[in-house]
Amino acid sequence: MSDGRTMEKLRVAADFLRKLGEPRVAVVLGSGLGDVLPLEGERAVAFTEVPGFPTPTAPGHKGEIAIGTLGGVDVLVQRGRLHYYEGYSPEEVVFPVRTYALLGVRILVLTNASGGIAEGLAPGDLVLIRDHINMLGFNPLRGPNLDELGPRFPDMTHAYDPGLRAIAHEAARELGIELREGVYLATMGPTYETPAEIRAFRALGADLVGMSTVPEVIAARHAGMRVLAISCVTNLAAGIARGPLSHEEVLEIGRRRAADLGRLLAELLPRLAR
Ligand code: HPA
Repeated sequence: MSDGRTMEKLRVAADFLRKLGEPRVAVVLGSGLGDVLPLEGERAVAFTEVPGFPTPTAPGHKGEIAIGTLGGVDVLVQRGRLHYYEGYSPEEVVFPVRTYALLGVRILVLTNASGGIAEGLAPGDLVLIRDHINMLGFNPLRGPNLDELGPRFPDMTHAYDPGLRAIAHEAARELGIELREGVYLATMGPTYETPAEIRAFRALGADLVGMSTVPEVIAARHAGMRVLAISCVTNLAAGIARGPLSHEEVLEIGRRRAADLGRLLAELLPRLAR
């Protein structure tokens, strides 16, 4: 429940992580992207070691938190994430992000794998998320508001910070990495979508579809963090793709694009922290 006990649990988790450092920037690495960002002087803990943290179950998700430096700047890297489809409650899904807020993180960078809906997208494309459509069927802020973290009715107009997006485009340009922009639609999963659902989502204005990220963005915005999100298109969405979708394909494309994503993040994160 969202009550005093939740705040107390979050404080205990944040105090535990504070022993590893007090970064102002955190990045969450999604499916197949967990190995892209080694840090200097890295101190890492498994999710299972952090008091109050739920434990991850999905294949391809490691579930560790590392704090170290990148380009001279302290950063936190979360390798692997918690998904609603795994059975976690919405509150559990956003527990890590809220912990980072209490730790003092002000900028949250999220990465994920997605299916491409918009015309012209191809597997392997990196896309900056400009906005989202929440089709998860829940909002993680439901329940008594955690007033210490943020307001009851948070504004979502600039959920994906325009200033941070401009910095990301600049870094990508300098590195010669193509970075597109699009609207991400989140579904509950764990099924991939039907072709009819993808046609409907396209009509709604979605460019990308995936099963994560939106809960963390909502919790981060509630807590006043600035957010940037980068999606790796691992496949064309159902009905656009010629054949059936597979998790192995998603992981494989993610792994293939991980190097470029790692280069981009290594360039970008120190700039965001400045
Ligand atoms: N649909 C939903 N989630 C995804 C997809 C997809 O096509 N690809 C990677 N994650």
